[in-house]
Amino acid sequence: PIKLIIDTDPGVDDSMAILAAFNSPEIEVLGLTSMYGNVPTTMATRNALTLCQLAGRPEVPVVEGAHKSLRGAAKERIADFVHGSDGFGNTQPQLAEGDPAPGSAAEFIVRMARQYPGEVVVLALAALTNVALALHIDPQLPQTLGRLVVLGGAFTCNGNVNPAAEANIFGDPDAANVVFGRMPNTYVVGLDVTHRCVLTTAEIEGMEGRGRHGSFLRAITQFYLDYHRRVYGMEGVYVHDATALVAVVQPELFEWHEGAVLVVTDGPAKGHTIRDEGHKQWVGVNDWQGLPPVKVALGVRSAELTSWVLDR
Ligand code: BDR
Ligand code: CA
Repeated sequence: PIKLIIDTDPGVDDSMAILAAFNSPEIEVLGLTSMYGNVPTTMATRNALTLCQLAGRPEVPVVEGAHKSLRGAAKERIADFVHGSDGFGNTQPQLAEGDPAPGSAAEFIVRMARQYPGEVVVLALAALTNVALALHIDPQLPQTLGRLVVLGGAFTCNGNVNPAAEANIFGDPDAANVVFGRMPNTYVVGLDVTHRCVLTTAEIEGMEGRGRHGSFLRAITQFYLDYHRRVYGMEGVYVHDATALVAVVQPELFEWHEGAVLVVTDGPAKGHTIRDEGHKQWVGVNDWQGLPPVKVALGVRSAELTSWVLDR
């Protein structure tokens, strides 16, 4: 099975991805690392522990990640209006009591990649700070890590934080530049495809009674569903993070386009992801020199994808 580390800010769609990963025989979850975004980092850690317990896998380590972006913003943006102030749609479930594993998320990623060279996949479902810090600790990480799959970016469509940027990349654009600048073996799944992967209200409601996971996900998704109805006028939800999980297991469901990616770090387009379509050698501009091509998903077989997600 694929040895997977899930870097996450749970989060409703993170919870879908995590429980689906635990339900997937193709995957061995090595650990969860926490990140701020939908909730602050400490709460992300607690929620990750709770999801491991719910999945009946309390032995899976949860390692706490960064509390601040690389630049250390005074106050990080927290998307409680999308996921509820508890990250679980304000359902206030009973939280797990255990402790996170010692060390930092970045150290855990480095250690696992060294222990299983070429085998570990990191699925990054939040801002890229932990992965950037891992690269800082170990510049050889691109050689030891098997693959990085990122949920982030908006290349051919509007963002969801501002018209230019998707939330995870916006959360730490400097970290995203570190990662895209140094990790050739990266697959980027952005809003270009996640906005085509929807679970309908009826499908969410149909999860009720489908085991403990189904009932839990149905309950926590109500708040997220209301947000989608209000903001996007849809009868359903985007399953961003679960879409990226599918890219780990079934990359053939996506259409991948190679090119260097650079992120805007300041100003009104902060967090905007730009892809070089031709991987050209741009002359006289330093920012684009020497960037490795990464793979960006621009197409998806969404019907197959959502039925896989629902099944898991
Ligand atoms: C991403 O941002 C978070 O709110 C979601 O969990 C997902 O990872 C979507 O932009
Ligand atoms: Ca997330």
